[in-house]
Amino acid sequence: MKSLASTTTLHNGVEMPWFGLGVFKVEEGQEVESSVKMAIHAGYKSIDTAAIYKNEEGVGKGIRESDVPREELFITTKVWNADQGYESTLKAFDESMEKLGLEYLDLYLVHWPVKGKYVETWKALEKLYKDGRVRAIGVSNFQIHHLQDILDVAEVKPMVNQVEYHPKLSQVKLLNFCKENGIQMEAWSPLMQGQLLDNDVLKEIATAHNKSVAQVILRWDLQNGVVTIPKSVKEHRIKENADIFDFDLSQDEMQKIHALNEDKRVGPDPDNFDF
Ligand SMILES: NC(=O)c1ccc[n+]([C@@H]2O[C@H](COP(=O)([O-])OP(=O)(O)OC[C@H]3O[C@@H](n4cnc5c(N)ncnc54)[C@H](OP(=O)(O)O)[C@@H]3O)[C@@H](O)[C@H]2O)c1
Repeated sequence: MKSLASTTTLHNGVEMPWFGLGVFKVEEGQEVESSVKMAIHAGYKSIDTAAIYKNEEGVGKGIRESDVPREELFITTKVWNADQGYESTLKAFDESMEKLGLEYLDLYLVHWPVKGKYVETWKALEKLYKDGRVRAIGVSNFQIHHLQDILDVAEVKPMVNQVEYHPKLSQVKLLNFCKENGIQMEAWSPLMQGQLLDNDVLKEIATAHNKSVAQVILRWDLQNGVVTIPKSVKEHRIKENADIFDFDLSQDEMQKIHALNEDKRVGPDPDNFDF
């Protein structure tokens, strides 16, 4: 992990950047286009969107207007809950690709484990993968038992599980399960949507390294072997968040951050959601 271009090797051999830009709640049009362009200009290789963010067109435009070859980038989108099921997922994929304006996708995720639907949805992702439309497939917001349901029937095992992950929700059991099964964990809301920035323990560690709290949290993700995708629409924060490859947290500091865990979510509980 030396730079923004550093990658983790997924179980099918595909290289996925450890770091990327999230675009949840970033407005379609000028706002998302400029965030994507600023990030790529700053050296980001990975962009994480979703059909439900309703900004895939702007993400695609931002990519095209950047002077980085498509094959150097890693683009993720996700099938929304209302589109789950076999045929409807295949259709949703086509719609996302049309909006993104891409020939192929790098990573397609099942956004949430919708009861009674996610296994069928997974079969559609396997088809897209086998057809060469997407280089890697995975899930999001899956607990161990959801992953087990997929692993029981999968012809292609999920390569990634993207979940809420930050110092107040360190998900040790899930992370260990993913590691044991060759599934790369990826953190959403790594900054707890800004709610961790005045934490005293994190502030002390940040001061010791002459870094910001955001940088310490994102570095903690990487040292735990978790891919991270902080969101910002501000150029100085897009740069700041990525400037985490020139320091190391000690074992003691890692433990102090782990001790902040309260199993506390900012987002919905994957075992109890109704959307
Ligand atoms: N799979 C899922 O279900 C799921 C759910 C949620 C999110 N995600 C993905 O994960 C990405 C990240 O999560 P998130 O957007 O929820 O939250 P986040 O990255 O934890 O936090 C984003 C918030 O922190 C602010 N921020 C960013 N960098 C900062 C810095 N250095 N200092 C101070 N504030 C900073 C941003 O404001 P500014 O923009 O004003 O800088 C924004 O308000 C999303 O964009 C999305 O791609 C996935």
